[in-house]
Amino acid sequence: MKVTVEAPASSANLGPGFDVFAIALDSPRDRLTLRSESAQRLSVEMEQAGDIVTPNSAAKNGAGAVCLAIARDFGIKKRICVEITKRVPIGLGMGSSGASAAAAAFGMNELFGLGMSGDDMILYSGKGEQVTSGTAHYDNVSASVLGGFVVVRVAERPTAIKYDPPADLALVLVTPLLELPERKTEYTRSVIPKMIELNMMVSNVANASMIVSGFAIGNIEMIGAGMRDRVVEEARKKLIPGYDSVKRHAMDAGAAGVCISGAGPSMLAILDRRKHDPRAVMDNMVAGFGAAEVDSDGFVTKVGGGAARV
Ligand code: HSE
Repeated sequence: MKVTVEAPASSANLGPGFDVFAIALDSPRDRLTLRSESAQRLSVEMEQAGDIVTPNSAAKNGAGAVCLAIARDFGIKKRICVEITKRVPIGLGMGSSGASAAAAAFGMNELFGLGMSGDDMILYSGKGEQVTSGTAHYDNVSASVLGGFVVVRVAERPTAIKYDPPADLALVLVTPLLELPERKTEYTRSVIPKMIELNMMVSNVANASMIVSGFAIGNIEMIGAGMRDRVVEEARKKLIPGYDSVKRHAMDAGAAGVCISGAGPSMLAILDRRKHDPRAVMDNMVAGFGAAEVDSDGFVTKVGGGAARV
């Protein structure tokens, strides 16, 4: 038995929604082919099909760890081969580990007909994030499983709500070419304050509510206006030379909102493509990094669908 599935890259947080919000990107998408063969006992083997290589040991590979966890919980005793074609660049703030983990959960569900819900797949995908980034955050994987814009709340289990995006919402991602710290997400999480003042909480709740309201009524300007974070970005922007300049340049070219994409260092801008040219926003953001003497690369995309069979 064999299935091939894909799951999209994603951009988490959107400013104030740390670990709660994410949007799926239309591209790039990680591809996984899962094959199962009869065996006496469970084994998961990783095969690399692309240029971007991931760990060969299943237990240390985010996608492999998801397959192992699901197989154990569902009592599957098979030899499972997982071929990864990794297209989402690692460590740039585009939910690379989340894309592979989500594809693994979705692929296992399809291969063995497990009947898991979206929230079940999100729960298991989080186990891949735990292996890759040291914490089981569920924002990226929720977007990679469900697509669209997602809000995820974790009580005993994660529960995610998906919103379809306004049709003309364009996304611009620009990545500074920087040397990345080891275990980047773990590191960039370590710089975030553990305690914040009440006025910052009020400001972040207000901004986050604007984003959700904007998606609920399809208002791009409202979404963009909410993309301001006074807590996490304040701490992380020190790791991104040119942050303020990139924000200014994006807004000058017509962006509705700008933020760090996930744990960075990429920056995300959103805009209404009926009103402004996404490529002009991208070029201005690259110029913004240039003003800080940092080279960067960008691309334009839109909000994408979730994990799917191909
Ligand atoms: N919410 C997570 C963070 C996303 O910002 O650390 C990491 O991809």
